[in-house]
Amino acid sequence: MSETNGPRFRRLLVTGGAGFIGSCFVRDTLARRDGTTIIVLDKLTYAGNRANLAPVEADPEQAARLRFVVGDIADHAVVGPLAAEVDAVVNFAAESHVDRSILDPDAFLRTDVAGVHVLLEACRAEQERASRGERDAAPRFLQVSTDEVYGSVDTGESREDDRLEPRSPYSAAKAGGELLARSYFVTYGLDVVVTRGSNTYGPYHHPEKLIPLFITNAIDDQQLPLYGDGLQRRDWLHVADHAGAIGHVLERGASGQIYNVPGNNERANRDVVTALLAQLGKPWSLVRQVQDRPGHDRRYAMDDSKLVALGWTNKVSFEDGLAATIAWYRDNQDWWRSIKSGEWDAYYRRQYGARLAGSTEAR
Ligand code: NAD
Ligand code: TYD
Repeated sequence: MSETNGPRFRRLLVTGGAGFIGSCFVRDTLARRDGTTIIVLDKLTYAGNRANLAPVEADPEQAARLRFVVGDIADHAVVGPLAAEVDAVVNFAAESHVDRSILDPDAFLRTDVAGVHVLLEACRAEQERASRGERDAAPRFLQVSTDEVYGSVDTGESREDDRLEPRSPYSAAKAGGELLARSYFVTYGLDVVVTRGSNTYGPYHHPEKLIPLFITNAIDDQQLPLYGDGLQRRDWLHVADHAGAIGHVLERGASGQIYNVPGNNERANRDVVTALLAQLGKPWSLVRQVQDRPGHDRRYAMDDSKLVALGWTNKVSFEDGLAATIAWYRDNQDWWRSIKSGEWDAYYRRQYGARLAGSTEAR
């Protein structure tokens, strides 16, 4: 954003804006009070939650700049007219949980690949309208992707031009989506940028993922199912930094380019668990060693030079971010208790029932 002229893109279509990272992007963008308007398009799957936008909806000035549309990014009839109204599309919408992609991959291909295609086609139609003088430039398209497209990285750090070697249905579908996006830049000259974020944590994170699952289970003195030896390594990025970096790339990223968005906080899973138990004052005896995830990626790590050269730096340290996240889950129990009910019980039994029954004490 230029200090004098305000944001480059003033009307945004934010897909998946009721999810974890998308809702943070919406909350933080509208809180800038710079006149930006946002249409959120969200299917409200099990992972989508309008309550994630409650702070916006409670503020009349911000609420007036938000329109919420319930719908599917794979639905041409819904997406087309919305693309006609905006200067940029930021696509957060996805099926996002690796374990669910192992249980049921179909929805991942529909949303993370076919859905991206529908969004790109809508932008291409806008490009044709622009060429006929019926609108200004076609919308910029930002595809939110993931470090998981690189696959498991034993040593070193992935750079943007490294080979993609996704190994789960989730990461393969995400790779398909971003490659398609890039093809629309190369083939049709669409204004496309891609971000590859690392493992994100923070408030409003669905409790199926490691950090919120373990915090909320530990609050209730429930067992914590640690996969395999727990020595898998992830690079943790606070959600406000992830959303901020996406906004930065939206404004300043060069067309056709991909930007890694690392957290620069690499930790073994068991060290993350040790830290959160210490802060919660709960014992390690809650941790159970359970059967590993099939095809479990051992490590992700990314080089940040390209994003740094674009002028972005993360602001939240892992220690501060984790403490604030734990405090948020302590203070917002209604939010996660309503998610950990209904469909949740069937999922939990399917994912963890046999695992916990066959688990051993974690050392
Ligand atoms: P999330 O699962 O919390 O949210 C996804 C949102 O998309 C939900 O609101 C859901 O209702 C919506 N959605 C799903 N299918 C849809 C469809 N067909 N049409 C419209 N809306 C649909 O996910 P998240 O953790 O916020 O991740 C957001 C994006 O960031 C995803 O693209 C994900 O791949 C990527 N990403 C996530 C992480 C992470 O650690 N969470 C890291 C890197 C990249
Ligand atoms: P997750 O939050 O699912 O993110 P991702 O698979 O996208 O990295 O998992 C983070 C790490 O924690 C990953 O190595 C798998 C591990 N994990 C467990 O050990 N137990 C669990 O119950 C979950 C959900 C994850």
